Amino acid sequence: MIKLQVKVISWLFIILTAFLCVPQIESINTNFLELAAFEDFLRSQHLSQVLVVRSGDGGNGDWQVECHQKLLSNYRVQFYRPGMPQNFEDLMFYGSPRTAVLVLNFRHILVRRHVFRAASEAGYFNNSLAWFILGSSSESLPDERLIEEHFSGYSMGIDADITVVLRRPDNTSWLLYDVYRISSQGPTPLIIGRKGQWSVSGGYQLLDNYRNSWVIRRRNFGQITLQASTALTEKPSGFDDMTYLADDIHLLERDPMQRKTYQLFRLVQSMYNLSLAISFTDRWGELLENGSWSGVMGQVTSGAADLAVCPMRFVVDRQPYIQYSPVLLTQDIHFIFRHPRHSHIRNIFFEPLSTQVWWCVLVLVAGSILLLLLHVRQERLLHRSHVESRLSFVWFSMLETYLQQGPTTDTFRLFSTRLLISFCCTFSFMLMQFYGAFIVGSLLSESPRSIVSLQDLYDSNLVIGMENISYNFAMFTNTSYQLVKEVFAQKICKSGEHNILTLQQGAERIIQGRFAFHTAMDRIYRLLMDLQMDEVEFCELQEIKFTSTYTTGSIMPKGSPWREHLAHALLHFQATGLKQYNDRKWMVQRPDCNQFKASQAEVDLEHFAPALFALVLAIMASAMVFLLELLVHWLPELRKRLRAMST
Ligand SMILES: *[C@@H]1O[C@H](CO)[C@@H](O)[C@H](O)[C@H]1NC(C)=O
Ligand SMILES: *[C@@H]1O[C@H](CO)[C@@H](O)[C@H](O)[C@H]1NC(C)=O
Ligand SMILES: *[C@@H]1O[C@H](CO)[C@@H](O)[C@H](O)[C@H]1NC(C)=O
Ligand SMILES: *[C@@H]1O[C@H](CO)[C@@H](O)[C@H](O)[C@H]1NC(C)=O
Ligand SMILES: *[C@@H]1O[C@H](CO)[C@@H](O)[C@H](O)[C@H]1NC(C)=O
Ligand SMILES: *[C@@H]1O[C@H](CO)[C@@H](O)[C@H](O)[C@H]1NC(C)=O
Repeated sequence: MIKLQVKVISWLFIILTAFLCVPQIESINTNFLELAAFEDFLRSQHLSQVLVVRSGDGGNGDWQVECHQKLLSNYRVQFYRPGMPQNFEDLMFYGSPRTAVLVLNFRHILVRRHVFRAASEAGYFNNSLAWFILGSSSESLPDERLIEEHFSGYSMGIDADITVVLRRPDNTSWLLYDVYRISSQGPTPLIIGRKGQWSVSGGYQLLDNYRNSWVIRRRNFGQITLQASTALTEKPSGFDDMTYLADDIHLLERDPMQRKTYQLFRLVQSMYNLSLAISFTDRWGELLENGSWSGVMGQVTSGAADLAVCPMRFVVDRQPYIQYSPVLLTQDIHFIFRHPRHSHIRNIFFEPLSTQVWWCVLVLVAGSILLLLLHVRQERLLHRSHVESRLSFVWFSMLETYLQQGPTTDTFRLFSTRLLISFCCTFSFMLMQFYGAFIVGSLLSESPRSIVSLQDLYDSNLVIGMENISYNFAMFTNTSYQLVKEVFAQKICKSGEHNILTLQQGAERIIQGRFAFHTAMDRIYRLLMDLQMDEVEFCELQEIKFTSTYTTGSIMPKGSPWREHLAHALLHFQATGLKQYNDRKWMVQRPDCNQFKASQAEVDLEHFAPALFALVLAIMASAMVFLLELLVHWLPELRKRLRAMST
């Protein structure tokens, strides 16, 4: 409802202003047919905002009424008479929708002075205005020459949308010409192409290739040179900037992002037939105190560079100063560490059975020993056999049973005793089978990883660090995710620890183990391979991701004429897989851990230590007891001797 009211009011306002402008409108010097051609143009370009530039001298009134009715009923129209106190630029505002500009007579001196020159100086021969410029052919001059004569003085770019419409001498058909320049900076010639024609009978007819988007049509830049900027931060001395940047075979671990994306820009060069003159800096760009930018950002904002050939993070602070291209590079940045083999202390030898089962087994064994004691007493009473009734005899007999040795057949005569012994044997057989099978199975199978989320990592006793690189700080501090903040405050910045490291230091600590490092995956993997990381250790690596993939784009000055072309090129590379191919070329070959795990089944010391420890304890205990026994044996004799000596 409110919307409707606003509409009604705004239309009232527009109509009112239209009537107020009546004295100016009267003098529109065009005819009805040209207006029909213009309407067809508006329709084909889907435009609804119109600016009519009147040329000043008087004209016929009848069709003017028609003109207004037609235009005003379908479009939002604004009128401008050159020489009005208002300037042409004042009619535009930033971010307004694309507007069609109707110029009734391009030869008129006032139009040239107040419209074309002003537009050229302020940069309005660009994609935000669709110019429809009327004129008539001359008999003495070919159309192209005529257009060149009138328009060659103006600055316009590759994104100019200018249609020059020339009336043929027969007054029933109009020829349409497309006019642009490749670059507004250098001395590049005006490019004039036949676009189609408009006639009373045939309507608005475009040539076939003008049905494509202008980006596809204007893809030959004629070898112009664009200024580009990139940052190199890890270049070893003794290398030429350009050869280093263009090299995609050597030293791939250095400046990988910038050099990787430069490969895409080489494709852009051949795609658009242009060349790039690259200037190098050593930083990405920070906002300085005096309001200007340093580094790549500085070169682009100051106009020294037309675009960046290095990837720039999408950052809110930069947005007001520059324009981003679509995604140029996606970067994986997460935590990486060697996963500890067993994060819990429980020993593998106790592993197969739960504690409950172990207790049950113990109770059963104790019970069977007690039972055997009774049986042995019975044996002695009934059979007068000479089995010993001592506890130690019973204990060793039971041990033999459980270890599947069994007492000799004639030790026990009673059927009940034999039954007890046989069932204990069966039970022990089953227990051993379960146990043995599990131990083998657990050694063959991959140990499950327990640290798989940021929360797990935070709770574990691993030390957490990150690479000393600006985006890491932004990631950890400029976030609303509480856990991430805590990881940064309590783990990475833990007092007394030095956890913000260079890539090299980080890699060394990863290899040492018990250290999780936050960094770019492609760089750290390459470095780890270079550091000759052991294959076993490599296969223990675990990544933890807590942000979505990190995306970056190229940057250009705001309103750059090249933005559509760059966007088209990058999306084209993505769609055709060239971008993915380039990514693959820069990826490091990692060992296949699936193959590796299957072949590895050895019991290492870490797993076997408890068994050894138990044996050592037993040896020590028995040695101690042995010494005690010796002592007990020698003590009476010692005492005797002492007594003999004292008397
Ligand atoms: C076309 O129109 C122009 C002016 O509008 C006039 O001078 C000319 O004679 C006309 N030509 C024809 C063939 O009617
Ligand atoms: C590139 O531009 C140059 C200069 O205009 C031209 O001679 C050449 O034919 C163009 N190359 C292609 C592939 O279009
Ligand atoms: C801002 O300061 C830097 C050095 O701190 C200087 O190079 C640059 O020219 C200054 N920019 C302006 C606009 O003053
Ligand atoms: C990170 O690196 C910068 C320079 O590259 C250095 O000034 C800073 O001290 C380093 N920070 C830490 C914590 O090592
Ligand atoms: C992140 O940084 C931007 C710009 O500096 C700021 O506007 C925003 O509030 C910050 N967000 C958080 C969660 O700190
Ligand atoms: C066209 O140029 C004007 C003035 O330079 C600028 O404000 C506007 O953003 C540009 N439009 C586009 C689409 O680049």
